[in-house]
Amino acid sequence: MEKDWKSPEIIIGSAAIGNYYYHRTETEQEVWNELDKGNYVLLIAPRRVGKTSIMKSIASQGRPNYLLVFNNVQGIRSENDFYKTLYGLVLSCLDKGKQIKEWFSNYLKNRTISEIDMSGSFKIEKEQINYLDEINRLMHELNKKNTETIVLLIDEIPELLHYLNKNGKKDEASSIIKNLRQWRQNQEFNKLRFVLAGSIGIHYVVNAIEGRSADLNDLCIINCPPLEGNETDEYINWATRNATVKYNNALKIHLRERIQYFVPYFLNLMFDEINNAARKRKNEVITTQHIDEAFEAVIQKNKHFADWKKRLVDYMPKADFDFVNEILIHIAHNGTISIQEIYNKATKYNKTIDYMDFVNELVQDGYIKATDQSYQFLSPFLKTFWKSNNPIYHV
Ligand SMILES: Nc1ncnc2c1ncn2[C@@H]1O[C@H](COP(=O)(O)OP(=O)(O)OP(=O)(O)O)[C@@H](O)[C@H]1O
Ligand SMILES: [Mg+2]
Repeated sequence: MEKDWKSPEIIIGSAAIGNYYYHRTETEQEVWNELDKGNYVLLIAPRRVGKTSIMKSIASQGRPNYLLVFNNVQGIRSENDFYKTLYGLVLSCLDKGKQIKEWFSNYLKNRTISEIDMSGSFKIEKEQINYLDEINRLMHELNKKNTETIVLLIDEIPELLHYLNKNGKKDEASSIIKNLRQWRQNQEFNKLRFVLAGSIGIHYVVNAIEGRSADLNDLCIINCPPLEGNETDEYINWATRNATVKYNNALKIHLRERIQYFVPYFLNLMFDEINNAARKRKNEVITTQHIDEAFEAVIQKNKHFADWKKRLVDYMPKADFDFVNEILIHIAHNGTISIQEIYNKATKYNKTIDYMDFVNELVQDGYIKATDQSYQFLSPFLKTFWKSNNPIYHV
């Protein structure tokens, strides 16, 4: 039995790719539609919904007349390095292209460029290059040619902007935002498109850099929703298709009741826990009680959820964190918080002017959801974690 035991085919933590990726067909199609219209896309979703997985899937699909590449820019430390990476990514796309092969190989020779790879790195003999100018010049050239459209799928861009802003490079962050906007609006850049995403709210970061009036209106925002309608059951069937532990209808209903918020990540955490426990028991038959036990066990191993708190601590100034954390602790203990109660807390923290910005940010990042003039946790997992992390609460 043990030797034939088959675990569900899931990945937990890093992006789901290949056989581990359940196609988010509608969202992917929406992204393609916007790219076809010439738009830049900003993928928005609460944490862990699957943005990176969607981007990687799109990047791995070939389409006629498109050249795509995915890259995570979190580790970049300066504006110039950002442009250097973008330039390398554009080169790596053109390297795969078919329509201007000869022109491109001459271009590389002239520029003394070699060893291009998919991560955006390349070797160049000339030194002291201004990569922004180089991108601008290359795009100007490409615009005159009949060539594929280049799509750069750039992940963790808010993290990069946040890093620059926090480390005395606000001007560099601001200049990146400005250049992205200029490329988007300039006809000369028609051959270049971006799909952007990140795991912290980009609006929060851009506001911090550009001021509250900043907008991202030039980007087409696409929301990645949680699994909807029968998608959740379909997902359960898909993830457990070859697995030893199966879920009948009653178990599916119970699992849905426990999780409430249906994204592959939370479902995967449950499948994994349930599978491991069943394997230990050497019994593939599971009951609703096993589902309940798994729910508790997932929370006990709280490394998954501690990261949600850490994000807030890392990205918010302390005074902002204290305010939002008090809201979250309140909800964890009371189930909900009314707008009036939020306002009362805003008075205490001197945030009566912009308190709803913080609340909206928590909604957008998938911590809480609005229900009739009040707010509650989106996921019971998070709620239980926040309470166990903050067991004492005095108003
Ligand atoms: N389409 C999918 N198919 C299967 N599993 C998925 C899918 N999307 C997400 N997951 C699960 O969710 C986890 C997180 O996915 P991913 O990294 O793509 O999310 P994210 O929205 O980019 O997260 P973050 O906000 O932390 O950047 C994966 O490790 C996997 O368990
Ligand atoms: Mg991600």
